[in-house]
Amino acid sequence: MDTITQAKKAAGEKAAALVQPGMLVGLGTGSTAYWAIEKIGEMVKGGLNIRAVATSLASEKQARELGIPITSFSEIQQLDIDIDGADEVSHDLQIIKGGGGALLREKIVAMASRRKVIVADERKYVKTLGKFPLPIEIIPFGWELVFRAVQSLQGAPTLRTKDDKPYITDNGNYILDCAFGAIENPEQLHHQLKTITGVVETGLFINMKPTVIIAYESGEVKTI
Ligand code: 5RP
Repeated sequence: MDTITQAKKAAGEKAAALVQPGMLVGLGTGSTAYWAIEKIGEMVKGGLNIRAVATSLASEKQARELGIPITSFSEIQQLDIDIDGADEVSHDLQIIKGGGGALLREKIVAMASRRKVIVADERKYVKTLGKFPLPIEIIPFGWELVFRAVQSLQGAPTLRTKDDKPYITDNGNYILDCAFGAIENPEQLHHQLKTITGVVETGLFINMKPTVIIAYESGEVKTI
């Protein structure tokens, strides 16, 4: 296992240790959240009694295979803890998510959770957001109009593709990856994007007061 994968595993496992018996848990998406889900699966096999809501079909599949009981918002109101990855976390704890295409469910789950825990390796912890192009989830109909509207906000959008076709999210939508350069005011940008008809959600996770667990290639793990 390379040192970055080791760091992701360390961050995921440290977050999993925050899960207590009886909790309702949000399960994130991506290669770092993966390790938290694996660890929670081990804990469930060892007798931990929890229920979880997954942020993507992929994470739900992983959880079910590990025997983690899955629930939904038809049965519960609120989660106790949500553990998820990030594409960038700024020093003032604003976040870009959506690199894995799950940003909409990730945000719904995060908003429904009392405690939000972000797990990331050191490469994601940055002074200012924006090196990672901001993913936004958009409705397929008329997507070209949203594309042009993002351009008029000085963003450089790219329609995400897979196998030469538009990438389709778990919700049947498209993703635009938008390069804005350094994002000095994430809150303002998020609100500007949300006023464009056709934008479902942005990957800016703003003012969520998360607990952030950063794992370093050296083996050190810091909780911020
Ligand atoms: C998926 C996400 C992921 O949490 C984010 O892309 C980080 O993934 P990874 O841990 O694989 O780098 O937002 O939509």
